[in-house]
Amino acid sequence: MTAATESSDSQVETLAAAAIDVMSRAYAPYSKFRVGAALLCADGTIFTGCNVENASYGLTLCAERNALVKAVSEGHLEFLKIVIVCSAGEPVAPCGACRQCLWEFAPQLEVIMVGTSRRDQAPLKKLLPGAFGPDQLS
Ligand code: THU
Repeated sequence: MTAATESSDSQVETLAAAAIDVMSRAYAPYSKFRVGAALLCADGTIFTGCNVENASYGLTLCAERNALVKAVSEGHLEFLKIVIVCSAGEPVAPCGACRQCLWEFAPQLEVIMVGTSRRDQAPLKKLLPGAFGPDQLS
């Protein structure tokens, strides 16, 4: 294993730990499904988010978009990786709305999905093939 790989592995562990921490603050009284996300910015800053549900159901905010809007609100627009954790055994994949919102800023994003029994990893490009994005408006 190269030093670069080691440092990237430890970076993923740091992100996973941050995502697990924020997952404990998920507001999920309806689904009871807790999700945490940690988004790595190009400058190394990490923003986290948990899911925040609403009695209207439809206004629920996913963990990934929560992390994204926090980052953008603080002036961060370039992202490298997102780690998503959930309390279920199987890793949770970002929903379509989150994929689209992440695509807006980071088509090259690497998505790491962590369940209690296993992990998955995929580039956002593979999770959102044929995406509509800012380029199509120009
Ligand atoms: N959820 C997320 O926060 N992220 C995902 O990637 C999938 C789903 C949340 C939304 C809702 O609060 C709960 O999980 C069940 O759908």
